[in-house]
Formats: sequence, C-alpha cells, structure tokens
Amino acid sequence: MQSIDKKYIYMNTIGCQMNVYDSERIIQSLQPLGYIESLSLDMADLIIVNTCTIRAKAEQKAFSFLGRLAKIKKKKPGIIIGVGGCMAQQEGKNILERVPFIDIVFGTHAVERLPRHIEKIASKRYRVVDVEMTNEIEELEHKESIIPKQQVEEISCFLTIMRGCDNYCTYCVVPYVRGREISRDPVSIVKEARKFVKTGVKEIFLLGQNVNSYGKKEELCSFHELLSRVNNIEGLLRIRFTTSHPKDLTEDLMRAFANLDKLCHHIHLPVQSGSNDILKKMNRKYTRERYVEKINQLRNICPEIAVTSDIIVGFPGETEDDFRQTLELIKLIEYDGLFAFQYSDRPNASASGLPDKISEKTKRDRLNELLEFQGHITKKKNRVLIGTDQEVLVEGFSKKELKNNTTSKGLTYQLTGRTPANKIVNFVCDDKTTDHQEMVGQVASVRIEKAFSHSLWGKLVKNHSSLNKLKGEKSYAA
Ligand code: 5AD
Ligand code: SF4
Repeated sequence: MQSIDKKYIYMNTIGCQMNVYDSERIIQSLQPLGYIESLSLDMADLIIVNTCTIRAKAEQKAFSFLGRLAKIKKKKPGIIIGVGGCMAQQEGKNILERVPFIDIVFGTHAVERLPRHIEKIASKRYRVVDVEMTNEIEELEHKESIIPKQQVEEISCFLTIMRGCDNYCTYCVVPYVRGREISRDPVSIVKEARKFVKTGVKEIFLLGQNVNSYGKKEELCSFHELLSRVNNIEGLLRIRFTTSHPKDLTEDLMRAFANLDKLCHHIHLPVQSGSNDILKKMNRKYTRERYVEKINQLRNICPEIAVTSDIIVGFPGETEDDFRQTLELIKLIEYDGLFAFQYSDRPNASASGLPDKISEKTKRDRLNELLEFQGHITKKKNRVLIGTDQEVLVEGFSKKELKNNTTSKGLTYQLTGRTPANKIVNFVCDDKTTDHQEMVGQVASVRIEKAFSHSLWGKLVKNHSSLNKLKGEKSYAA
C-alpha cells in the first residue's frame, strides 16, 4: 500500500456554529489525503479560512487574516491557501482577483468536492473557484459517516440537521449564501448522534437556521418529534438547539421542554426589534404582541426556561421611538442574555436598497445603550441564582489556578461547565477524595455563591457519580 505523506492543515473559522461544524467536516474530509490539523501557521501546508458574511465586520476579519498570509506564501510558495464558507459563496472569483495568492475559493455547498480540488491543486498548481449550489438532500445525507475529529474528544458537539433558509428577512444574506432550506433525514441524524455519544459526547447541539421548520418541506417528522428521538439515545445527557424563528415556534415544541428530560431549558428566540414597523420592514412575519404571547405561553409551560435573543439596532428607518420600543420589550421580557448587532448593509439583502439609513454614530450609541440596559437585567437574573443548586455539565478546567483554595496537593483547579439554561459556572470542589479529571463530562450539582455579568461562581455540593445515578433513574422511569 502506498504511504501518504503527513501534511498539516491550519483552519481559521470565522462566524457561527454552522461554520464550526463545517470546518470539522473539512478537516475530516481531508484526512484521507494525509492532512492533520495543526494550530501552527508556520507548520501548515494548507491554510483554510472558513468565512462569514453576515455583517461587513466578519468580511473585514477574513481579509485582514488573508493579508497576513502574503508573507507566508512568499516564504513557502508550495503552500495551498483556500477560502471557504459564506463570503466565498458570495464573492466567488472576486476573492481571487482581490487576493492574488489564493489557490481556491469554495462555497458552502462545495465541502464535499474539496478533497478532489486540493489534490489537483497540489499536483498541477492551478486556481479553482467552486461556488456551485446543489439542492440535493443526498449531499448532506452521507456526511453523517464523518465524525468531526475534534469533536470526538469533546463533551459537547454540534450536529447540523438542516441547512439554508427560506425566510428572506430583508437584512439577511443567509438564503443567498447557504441556499434554500433543506432538512436531513431523521434516521441519519439519530445515527450520527449515536456515533457522537459512543465517542463520549454528552451534549448535542442541533443546528439549523430555523430548526422550528425542520422537516416541513420534505414532510419528514416534525422538529419536536426529532427531539424526542434524540432524547431516547442512551448515554446522552443533554440536548440543545439553535436557531428558532418565533413565527414557527409551536405549542408542541414548547411542550417538549416540559416533557423531554434531556432537553435543556433554554431557547434562543431572536426578536430582532421591538417595533412592529421595523419588524414589518424586516419581513419577520410576527408582531411584537404575538412574540410576547409566545414567550408567555412558553413560560407557562416551562417556568424556569431561559430565553435569549438577537437584536439589530439601526435598521434603515429606525426612529428613536422604534428603538425605545425595543428597550421596552427587553424590559418586559427580561432576557437571560442578548446578542445585539449594528445593522450592516449586505449586498443581495433587500434592506440594502431601503432609504433612511442610520448613521454609524447613532447605531453605535444605540448598541451601547442597549447592551448596558441588558447588562443590568442579566446581572439581576444571575443574582437570583445565588444560593440555588444548579446542575452543571462539567466541560473542563478553567485556566485559573486558585492559589488560596488549596488541597492536600497544594492547588485546586477551578472546574467549569454550564447550567441547563446555558449559564457558565466556574466552581471549586473542597472534597479531597474527588477525582477532578473524572468529573469532566459528568453532571455536578453546584451551589451558586456569586453572580457576575457573564458567569456564576460556586462550590460543588454533590458528587457527580451519585447525581448521574439519580439522573439515570429518573430517565429510565420516564
Ligand atoms: N446586520 C446586522 N445584524 C445582522 N444579523 C443578520 N444579518 C444582519 C445584518 N445585515 C444578525 C441577526 C441574526 C444574527 C445571527 O445576526 O440578529 O439573528
Ligand atoms: Fe436570516 Fe431570517 Fe433566515 Fe434567520 S430566518 S437565517 S435572519 S433570513
């Protein structure tokens, strides 16, 4: 058998979880060619930037990284440099023209074909642009055989259940760069999830641009049914998902939060604006009142659910009054956390043609005001948790060593993990008999003692093994 030379790939991922998942698939798909991941740019034989184009800033980030690569290419002309993802899909050959040393530009549907392209480039040194889009489900289907390499050692991993989007919110490029919405077969999703669990994964994050409409077009099972199937996987401790569109949030899905023991009590439900005028211009297909109704219904069904959201400030035509309405909505809902963005004009997205653009200064001021406003709410909501015991899925050790909190060996490492509501908890364990390494990947009960803006701090109250036994008994009884 011919031996394959070991080569190194350096991957720079910009953007959302979907890109993180795709980057893992890229690395995995290049393994048969001898590529293994390296975290060193100097060692790399292949550099890939997986790009995002949701806002102009993400594009600037990609180009500034590419700029840094000019020197490397000069020193090492044999190196292959590729640009993939959403910006590649949108800009295609413009990127080759703008950055002359790039070897390949490949779009969001071209990951499958990447190994063939790389092989050809390595032997013949020519430049490739592949931004072809397909509408075939098979293309996603057989990916389930690929277990992303990095994820096998992880406690938590992403799993894409669908791609693309048909919603055409007027500010958004996703439908243009990711294509039309298409869902994977539930059987293949559950199979992939089982494979992850076999490798030690405890938490699965189901990904899609709008998971609430999963399977509708293809008449597969509904999203809440899919959740129920994943919930049956033995050994899996937690299920999360993102992102949900408010218009498609059904009562059945709300009930899943109350009925499925592994489904974490957290929903990310982007509202984007609190003004009906702006929501209409955004083509969001719900009103502020309908959104609030849905949140109330959800909280009635599952009172402890954490709710987070995305907000865009400075959408074209957003008046001071529209912005105040957004702040009032934030006050009313009391989100557990928010991601807020300044509106960014995107080519293709129809809002770029709207009049009454908001100045950069106003957008910046509104964003800062909103973030400060939400900051108080987040802190308040976190402070309520002081004194409570939270179930924390332990992800690993935080970087800090607590010098004052010593064990017989002289040092206590701070462990870190997340609550079902997705709040980060850093905690220490006083029990000298506990094997800290063994706690990673287990659920621990932690008493919260301090609350900060972005995290909580506490102490272990219950050993992981007894707690997991309890959890197991609970789930078998269900
Ligand atoms: N400008 C600013 N924010 C945007 N988002 C999407 N498109 C834009 C844009 N053109 C935000 C939305 C979305 C999140 C992922 O990114 O809030 O929910
Ligand atoms: Fe973009 Fe709207 Fe689709 Fe979300 S639902 S990906 S914001 S078009």
